[in-house]
Amino acid sequence: MTDANQQGAAAPQQQAIETMQVEERRFPPTAAFAAQANAQPGIYARDFDELWATEAGRIDWFEPWTTLYEWEPPHAKWYLGGTLNVCFNCVDRHVEAGRGEKIAFHWEGEPADELVPISYVDLQRRVVVFANALRKLGVKKGTAVAIYMGMVPELPVAMLACTRLGAPHTVVFGGFSADALSDRLVDMGCEVLITQDEARRRGTTVGLKVIVDEALEAAPGVRAVVVAQRTHGPVAMTPGRDVTWDAACAGLSDDPASCPCEPMDAEDLLFLMYTSGTTAKPKGIVHTTGGYLVGAATTHHYVFDHKPETDVYWCAADIGWITGHSYIVYGPLANGATSVLYEGTPDFPDRDRWWEIVERYGVTILYTAPTAIRSHMKWGAEHAAKHDLSSLRLLGSVGEPINPEAWIWYREHIGGGRCPIVDTWWQTETGMILITPLPGLTTTKPGSATKPFPGVDVAVLDEAGEEVGPGGGGYLVLRRPWPGITRGIFGDPERFRDVYWSRFPGLYFAGDGARIDEDGDYWLLGRVDDVMNVAGHRLSTIEIESALVSHPLVAEAAVAARADALTGQAIVAFVTLRGTAEGSLAMMEELRNHVAHHISPIAKPANIVFTPELPKTRSGKIMRRLLRDVAENRPLGDTTTLADPAVVGELQERAAGENAGEE
Ligand code: WT7
Repeated sequence: MTDANQQGAAAPQQQAIETMQVEERRFPPTAAFAAQANAQPGIYARDFDELWATEAGRIDWFEPWTTLYEWEPPHAKWYLGGTLNVCFNCVDRHVEAGRGEKIAFHWEGEPADELVPISYVDLQRRVVVFANALRKLGVKKGTAVAIYMGMVPELPVAMLACTRLGAPHTVVFGGFSADALSDRLVDMGCEVLITQDEARRRGTTVGLKVIVDEALEAAPGVRAVVVAQRTHGPVAMTPGRDVTWDAACAGLSDDPASCPCEPMDAEDLLFLMYTSGTTAKPKGIVHTTGGYLVGAATTHHYVFDHKPETDVYWCAADIGWITGHSYIVYGPLANGATSVLYEGTPDFPDRDRWWEIVERYGVTILYTAPTAIRSHMKWGAEHAAKHDLSSLRLLGSVGEPINPEAWIWYREHIGGGRCPIVDTWWQTETGMILITPLPGLTTTKPGSATKPFPGVDVAVLDEAGEEVGPGGGGYLVLRRPWPGITRGIFGDPERFRDVYWSRFPGLYFAGDGARIDEDGDYWLLGRVDDVMNVAGHRLSTIEIESALVSHPLVAEAAVAARADALTGQAIVAFVTLRGTAEGSLAMMEELRNHVAHHISPIAKPANIVFTPELPKTRSGKIMRRLLRDVAENRPLGDTTTLADPAVVGELQERAAGENAGEE
């Protein structure tokens, strides 16, 4: 970031969110990368229909589709008339093509001596046996199945077995509570639940089956529970309802002919992924079969420059989120990838665990989230330096805007300065990456997700629905459908219209702010609900946070606004320092001046609260809504989705202390 103040003054009038951050570093692709890249010049000029018709050829269809898409906002349908099976595309066809011995997953347990290579033929056998077990439990096309597991091999096996039978699934992240689980079971009408006895976590175990038992008291529709034995710990089994994975599979065939892949309509329900909304009731985001699979596979191929013969790909997300569905399971397997699947946390037993894994398998492509990158920054680069990371050739980021300094740190300390970084913007609802660099083509800028994926039509609008010119900030919308677009909120078409289609009629409103710069590159500004209004200026959180993170002693920062008699709202920053640095009044002044200098005096935080941890959701996003409550000294709203509820209590105490000191 450089001299930003002038830019603020020069920004256009017409904008819904003011943007002030300027980032001048540029990273053009190398000639060597460009020459071998999957994305070649010309891809952006491809005709929309040609693109999605051709890319559909990545998938094997039982019956060819006849109509590419139908679009009557908010309803999209893709590949009408086509039939296919997801499990066939992800597993069987690779075995049939003679690639059965290729590794699908290098599974690694949290205990570092548990390393299990799973080839495509192994995966097929496991899936077939388990699909036969599900069939015996009465699961057939259309039966709703829930999966509540940690990152064990049985998790993708269970998902694929469901898709083989045509049974829609919902995977509930293994960190969710009994209430969150039962809400989802009831909403989807699940009849069968697949879980495990206990999950491994940081050297100890966490009971999942006990949570299931509690959840099922409120979800009487679940008639059968399959329990994989990860730890063989003692768990209660309810006779007539619960069965272990092994017992359910005993004596069943692993011959693919014993359990053929069910032909599914392109628009049949594939899965629901629940995502939290502004009300307590989670939204069951609907994804269907054909468009979703084409979208996931196509973006995985181009965005990650994936070469099935040589790459070792690792998406370090949890399968319980959409990232894991699209870019651990369905996209990579459809493309015949060899992936890493890791059960544990990045810092167990030590903070170099990830880098040990990269070295062990020769990982070439790594996809993770800014929150993880900032944790590694906080811990220090020495952990990565202990390992040979020279196999890496491409890095990816998803989940939040990435602060430019975190981007640079990732590039230098993990990518050795040689790997392109793809900062990929998308959502549970979009199913697939929509704004992203294409490696080999795009000149990247730290903090920018750069360009819409080919065929994706994005715009940034002001309050009145007019396009904001270059440099201005506003609301991100999509004007044209894409194959992976959600088909709705399960059972609630009105809410679907309300949430996504009512702000700008006929357009999909993502809920995010964004800015387009002079080169046509997109900068995501965070959720519009988080925008602050300071002395009449509408400011996004991310720019101020990134200015703070650009200070050499800051690892993470989050800002929120509190009411202020003079300016309407005043900015409160919550800052985590790197390593052993300590917060002080002098440090606070230094950081306030740093923000004033790097962005604008308008953006100067009124107060800074130093904290060892920020409140985050279980998927790693900073919860600014709670920080607003803390900043306002209000009772906290819903804290059930927090990863670590203790963090915010401590923060309240610190904030109270600081405010007292200020008065
Ligand atoms: C929201 C969607 C999509 C997989 C993970 C999250 C934010 C996501 C980026 C990015 C800036 C990003 C947006 C979006 N987001 N990726 N590269 N740059 N913001 O899925 O939980 O549905 O969250 O995450 O705010 O709307 P999700």
